[in-house]
Amino acid sequence: MSSRNGSDFIVVANRLPVDLERLPDGSQRWKHSPGGLVSALEPFLRNHKGAWVGWPGVPDAEVDDFEEDGLRLHPVTLTGAEVRDYYEGFSNGTLWPLYHDVVAPPVFDRTWWDAYVKVNHRFAEATAQAAAPNATVWIQDYQLQLVPAILREARPDLRIGFFLHIPFPPTELYMQLPWRAEIVRGLLGADLVGFHRPGGAQNFLWLARRLLGLEPTRGAVGVRTRPGVIQVGDRAVRVGAFPISIDSAGLDTLARKRETVARAQQIRADLGNPKKIILGVDRLDYTKGIDLRLNALRELLTEGRVDPSEVAMIQLATPSRERVEHYQRMRDEIELTVSRINGEFARVGHPVVHYLHQSVDRAELAAFFSAADVMLVTPLRDGMNLVCKEYVACRHDLGGALVLSEFAGAAAELTSSFLVNPHDLDGVKNAMHAALTIDPAEGRRRMRALRRQVLTHDVDRWARSFLEALDPEHHH
Ligand code: ADP
Ligand code: G6P
Repeated sequence: MSSRNGSDFIVVANRLPVDLERLPDGSQRWKHSPGGLVSALEPFLRNHKGAWVGWPGVPDAEVDDFEEDGLRLHPVTLTGAEVRDYYEGFSNGTLWPLYHDVVAPPVFDRTWWDAYVKVNHRFAEATAQAAAPNATVWIQDYQLQLVPAILREARPDLRIGFFLHIPFPPTELYMQLPWRAEIVRGLLGADLVGFHRPGGAQNFLWLARRLLGLEPTRGAVGVRTRPGVIQVGDRAVRVGAFPISIDSAGLDTLARKRETVARAQQIRADLGNPKKIILGVDRLDYTKGIDLRLNALRELLTEGRVDPSEVAMIQLATPSRERVEHYQRMRDEIELTVSRINGEFARVGHPVVHYLHQSVDRAELAAFFSAADVMLVTPLRDGMNLVCKEYVACRHDLGGALVLSEFAGAAAELTSSFLVNPHDLDGVKNAMHAALTIDPAEGRRRMRALRRQVLTHDVDRWARSFLEALDPEHHH
């Protein structure tokens, strides 16, 4: 839905769903953007013919608006200094670790904050220009928390929603942020502020009272129900919980394809037909607990509880935020641990851990999920985590076992997985061992329960529940 006067429905996110790639020969091409936000929203938006405002993923890219598969894309340019200060700096050196329970120390840098303010203004301006009168605008994630208020000021006619894709931290941690009141004020420019979990919504309500002296409702926020309400001047801002999900049916179909089944068998054969395949799939991020699952495997091998001739572990790790120091350090640690394990336990032609610092396409990923007997999802903190839901969606055969961290948002929904505390290494080892040796009937029972949850709660339901709460009269 768009007209000469602009689009009626606009998603605003730091990244466009496609990334501009500059090749060594000077030419350029578009590729799929990394991360869960794009995985979740892209299929929904393509079906709804909206517009998307975002950054093309490289500095100084001056790209005109363009159309792709019925989706109108509005690129926002960032300079090299802005990529450093707004994206790598404030977004991923300050907010990302702060919101993930300070698992790495956040850096508070005033020049980073200034860049964040400036870039949020630019996104708001681009959106104000792209939006038709009375349009619905849906702003995404921690990089753009000031956009709701700036946009409200410029375009009071718009209906504005905001959704946070990462955890919203405990209030004691949030209070560390020197710009804590500015960010709460920024978010309150929206008509609806959404989080994955009721706890995040509750924390935000508390902060609105504490930092801005507002009077939020006091009732408990439910999942997709009973949003909190904050009166801000003459506007009522709602605050709710909307757990995100995946295109479950699409992945289920992909996993059932003959090509996918054949490719999964090929992967197993390439590994030398081990008795058990263990899989990890993540962006290479220090919140994901890749190191701790490798350490758990190493101890299991050392203790002889896992036989290196019977298992193969594959770790797929998408390169991510490679210029941020903590990411570099984590990568080094992971690569060291992988080679230690192989140094000790591999035989020629048979490594124990197969590590790919690469991203693979959807069909290939579905084949990996289908081939994996044990899926390890062990973040120290994760807003939702889509990988675990994707794994479940691919297991129409009811095979496979999921080991899942209690600190992922998904743990509240995927209760039939092997839930672990990632800080408890013995607990992780025991869960991995139990998953490797599970009785097949018990495995099927668990997977059936997991699939019931994932197939009935897909990304469409997430988007519809958010948009209905944002605009009850409108049908999306
Ligand atoms: P995050 O958004 O923090 O990266 P999620 O688990 O929510 O974490 O989403 C990650 C998305 O990226 C999923 O859709 C997953 O399939 C995809 N992904 C992660 N690693 C890879 C990889 N190596 N190759 C291809 N896709 C990947
Ligand atoms: C997470 C964040 C997204 C982000 C993605 C990839 O999913 O919630 O906002 O786009 O990671 O990270 P990147 O920094 O590459 O955009």
